Amino acid sequence: MGERFLVLDRRIERFREVLVRRQKDLVLFVDNVKNEHNFSALIRTCDAVGVMRILYYYEGRKDVPINESITLGSERWVFLERVQDRTGKLKDLKDTGFQIVVTWLGEDSVDFREADYTKPTVLVVGNELMGVSEEVLPLADLRVKIPMFGMAGSLNVSVATGIILYEAQRQREEKGMYDRPTLSEEEIERIIGKWAFEDVIRRKRS
Ligand SMILES: C[S@@+](CC[C@H](N)C(=O)[O-])C[C@H]1O[C@@H](n2cnc3c(N)ncnc32)[C@H](O)[C@@H]1O
Repeated sequence: MGERFLVLDRRIERFREVLVRRQKDLVLFVDNVKNEHNFSALIRTCDAVGVMRILYYYEGRKDVPINESITLGSERWVFLERVQDRTGKLKDLKDTGFQIVVTWLGEDSVDFREADYTKPTVLVVGNELMGVSEEVLPLADLRVKIPMFGMAGSLNVSVATGIILYEAQRQREEKGMYDRPTLSEEEIERIIGKWAFEDVIRRKRS
């Protein structure tokens, strides 16, 4: 019995370590990514970088499928929110002080390393074929691209997202943003409670 509590204590300590590094003001917006492997890889990268909020628009009738052999369960440690009104959601975020950084392969885009990701930021990534949608594009405060020197015109969306999010992580770490929590103590406690509860339910089911 004592051992079980010890395990739980360690688990809760781990939750806390993760949560104090979560970057509440760095959000990923996934604009109609359809491939389950891509979507799953994005989730896992967000967890690794400390992005806790993933907003996604998906035009399918059912929800976008998640592949657990790719996420390794990381969908449990982020907040996924399906959005119907893409522009409305992004405008709301803009109104609360977020800059909208859109990935775009056009001539007028700047090198992704020129953006300041230490500001409250929504990074928008797009569909595998069409890229970011026409309705979302005009909302960009900044358009960024990863330089391409090969024959292919673009990267896989999950690879591109990883590259940009790790640049954001680098900038934020340099500014000490992983050393002070962006979540309030109350929020951390609430999320720990939720994760611990879900853990218990999962263990009971298995
Ligand atoms: C395969 S690409 C889409 C290609 C599409 N033909 C276009 O021109 O946007 C899918 C998504 O990956 C991301 N992406 C791929 N390569 C990128 C690059 N070099 N720079 C920035 N984002 C990139 C973007 O989010 C893009 O919307």
